[in-house]
Amino acid sequence: MSEPTADIGLIGLAVMGENLVLNMESHGYTVAVYNRTTSKVDEFINGRGRGKKLVGCHTPAELVAALKRPRKIMIMVKAGAAVDAVIDELVPLLEPGDLLIDGGNTHYPDTTRRERALRAKNLLFIGTGVSGGEEGALKGPSIMPGGNVEGWPLIKPIFQSIAAKVEDGSPCCDWVGPEGAGHYVKMVHNGIEYGDMQLICEAHHLMSAVLGYDASKQHEIFKRWNQGRLNSYLIEITADILGYIDPETGKPLVDLILDAAGQKGTGKWTVNSSTDLGTPLTLIAEAVYARCLSALKEERVAAEPLLKGPNPPPFDGDPDAFVNDLEQALYASKLISYSQGYVLMREMAKESGWNFNYGGIALMWRGGCIIRSVFLGKIKEAFDANPHLSNLLVDPYFRDQIAQAQDSWRRVVATAALRGVPIPAMASALSYFDGYRSGRLPANLLQAQRDYFGAHTYERVDKPRGQFFHTNWTGRG
Ligand code: NAP
Ligand code: ATR
Repeated sequence: MSEPTADIGLIGLAVMGENLVLNMESHGYTVAVYNRTTSKVDEFINGRGRGKKLVGCHTPAELVAALKRPRKIMIMVKAGAAVDAVIDELVPLLEPGDLLIDGGNTHYPDTTRRERALRAKNLLFIGTGVSGGEEGALKGPSIMPGGNVEGWPLIKPIFQSIAAKVEDGSPCCDWVGPEGAGHYVKMVHNGIEYGDMQLICEAHHLMSAVLGYDASKQHEIFKRWNQGRLNSYLIEITADILGYIDPETGKPLVDLILDAAGQKGTGKWTVNSSTDLGTPLTLIAEAVYARCLSALKEERVAAEPLLKGPNPPPFDGDPDAFVNDLEQALYASKLISYSQGYVLMREMAKESGWNFNYGGIALMWRGGCIIRSVFLGKIKEAFDANPHLSNLLVDPYFRDQIAQAQDSWRRVVATAALRGVPIPAMASALSYFDGYRSGRLPANLLQAQRDYFGAHTYERVDKPRGQFFHTNWTGRG
């Protein structure tokens, strides 16, 4: 039998897997590859992989035999049962100290379960978020690994060499934490992605509904916004999308696309985690629900003639000033979304003991992934200045930014409400801001209601915390 030559193995030659293999190979690594449908191995080796340092394998045993020790195998198959099936096939072939890495979009509790089970067999397991889609996988993704930390030195050089790099050359990949921490951070990334996308859609909707701007005018505005503090991948692609003309009709393609959104579930997982932890994640929740509402296309079409809204006169303000207000509202709402996402991770850290590196997470998201942006550089700076920052909103830089944006943001939300334009993410973000900055909220009345009907007791502002009172509100026995 020939000596093992491969530095790493990869299982699952769909778009992400193939591109990650080519990325690793281009950084000098020899990669052994295997896919359940083995014809794909041959197609890859004789196609995109021709002439490259790859070892095509037709069985898991061949793959394991091709790997230098300790073996490192990355699994890039469909998340869920397929990952367990692949792990079950590999385990009998491995030796203590070998490392398995799941790079799919796995729900984090599955990663925690697998890490514990494999640790008991003396095998190392890492669950890693990989973001940036097909192109990112090939040219430099954002990589968010977590799991058994003993596996990190084995894979660190490969991951950090293939990851996206920021301006100073730092890789968008660092250790996130134990068990399912890597996949948790990837899940929050996806939730934030939902929020960013929804906010952009709301700005687009307002430009159309309030100002009557067509796609080509909006294309120019998004291009301009992309030169400033909103500079990001999602703003950039939005400008491209708005400028794209359908060759068949000569119209902007965006106007011809059915307004019913799909979702694969990572946004929902993020919101579920926030309700489990009891921490507000209002903007991402609204983004998930906005997709759900959009999917009710037939019901909305039927309701349109029945449910009359306001009939406002044409906008008679300064359109440029309104566009400026929109930019401010988008920025302020985005800040709320990220601050809520970071608080969610902080609460998860308390619950799980995972102890996230928040600045490091901002750096991992700064390049390579779908939410990459200049904004994340500012978040990194905020956590570098104060690693224990409780909420991004109280960071001096962001506090100042939100103070400046506030009047514009309120005008946008008020204009939308008066004109009947739905902006659930921007409006709920403003309500969260007003709630968070309120020393007193009406939960006093709520506590009284709970005590009235359920004798749940309440605390008093004029007595020490921890003393509970009950009132017989009706005077009846
Ligand atoms: P995918 O469509 O999610 O999965 C296809 C791959 O999984 C194929 O190699 C397939 O093998 C294999 N597979 C499915 N069931 C299997 C089973 N029971 N046993 C063994 N192999 C099985 O591929 P993808 O889009 O490249 O994504 C891979 C992972 O990365 C997923 O978890 C995905 O969510 C995640 N991800 C995707 C993107 C993206 O932009 N697409 C971005 C980030 C992360 P066969 O060829 O034999 O069917
Ligand atoms: P990335 O990490 O690169 O952001 P991702 O997490 O797999 O990749 O998904 C990014 C976006 O592509 C998401 O919008 C996702 O769909 P959801 O919004 O419904 O979660 C979408 N996406 C990814 N894989 C997809 C697939 N196989 N089919 C349809 N949409 C997909």
